[in-house]
Amino acid sequence: MAKINLLLLFGGVSTEHEVSRVSAASVMSRLDRDKYNLLPVGILKSGQWFLHGDDDFDAISDGRWEKSKGNLPAFLSPSRGDGLIVFGTEKVAKIPVDCVFPVLHGANGEDGTMQGLFEVAGIPYVGSGIGASANAMDKSVTKVLVEPYQVEQADYMLVQKQEFEREPQKIVEAAEAKFSYPVFVKPSSSGSSVGVSKAKDREGLHSALCDAFRYDGKALIEEMIEGQEIEVAVLGNGEPIASVPGEIVPSREFYSYEAKYIDNSSGLFIPARIPEETSQIVRQKALDVYRALSCRGLARVDFFVRKSDGKAIFNEINTIPGFTSISMYPKLFEATGISYGELLDRLIGLAMENQ
Ligand SMILES: Nc1ncnc2c1ncn2[C@@H]1O[C@H](COP(=O)(O)OP(=O)(O)O)[C@@H](O)[C@H]1O
Ligand SMILES: [Mg+2]
Repeated sequence: MAKINLLLLFGGVSTEHEVSRVSAASVMSRLDRDKYNLLPVGILKSGQWFLHGDDDFDAISDGRWEKSKGNLPAFLSPSRGDGLIVFGTEKVAKIPVDCVFPVLHGANGEDGTMQGLFEVAGIPYVGSGIGASANAMDKSVTKVLVEPYQVEQADYMLVQKQEFEREPQKIVEAAEAKFSYPVFVKPSSSGSSVGVSKAKDREGLHSALCDAFRYDGKALIEEMIEGQEIEVAVLGNGEPIASVPGEIVPSREFYSYEAKYIDNSSGLFIPARIPEETSQIVRQKALDVYRALSCRGLARVDFFVRKSDGKAIFNEINTIPGFTSISMYPKLFEATGISYGELLDRLIGLAMENQ
């Protein structure tokens, strides 16, 4: 079989740039080079694209790749048939691209923007399309799309930035009438817990909203769900499959950015410590959410299993979940019988299906 020219994108103009680099280094180290010609293209935080000439995973992981002498300016052409345009020292080359793997998290990668470029270019890509990506990125939209299904979610209030800036007191009072403290506050479109806080009183709520609005014009105030944090990995297009559920035990008060990436001491249990019956329910609900959003390829669907009644409460969905070797998504499928390498092959196969 002919080798597949795989364009792997990493970095990006996103608050999750660093996480993307670690995910990408991990994916690159596991891709079978007998099957794929790898074209790693890094996107700086300032937005410029470079084809990275070296195969140094550590340099991608820690950001040193940016200084590499082998980097060449490059971009994916929207003009069909062009592929990757690479600016060499003497000439401009066009490299055909069979498939794109956007190992990008958050804005400008996981939110439909990049997917629009792939669609225009007519190149198959790993993961969900424009609509599903955009809808999954915006938590307020996800909530509405999931509502018609039998999937319980935390009670919430949507706040617009202008509304808050005009009458902050009114927002705080409305939240206090609806919820009792503590509440969770989060930007509607964010990830990796950036801008997420637990507010314990009026002052905390005010500053949590100010913080959330640094990242998005919409914020959610949510009732706090006390319970276990449970995650399910989903894989597939028309007939998706759900992994065994896993459980996160945050090292801090909640699963904050620090607990995710700095502490390295959050607990991880695979399978999750929940009854078999709950596990089946969570897997089914993960598939329901995946279908409600019309996802393709992959997603990680996150829940709480509430302490008081053992019910599964849907929290959020990620269409390009973390992909480091210690990330939940690959680990959950490993525990379900699909190795990391096979998972990558399947994802690329799913991307190229029906093209
Ligand atoms: N309603 C809630 N009740 C309890 N904890 C929450 C709630 N919402 C968020 N959290 C905590 O905050 C973390 C990050 O919030 P999440 O909605 O998953 O945003 P992100 O997309 O940034 O991961 C969760 O993993 C959880 O620890
Ligand atoms: Mg989350």
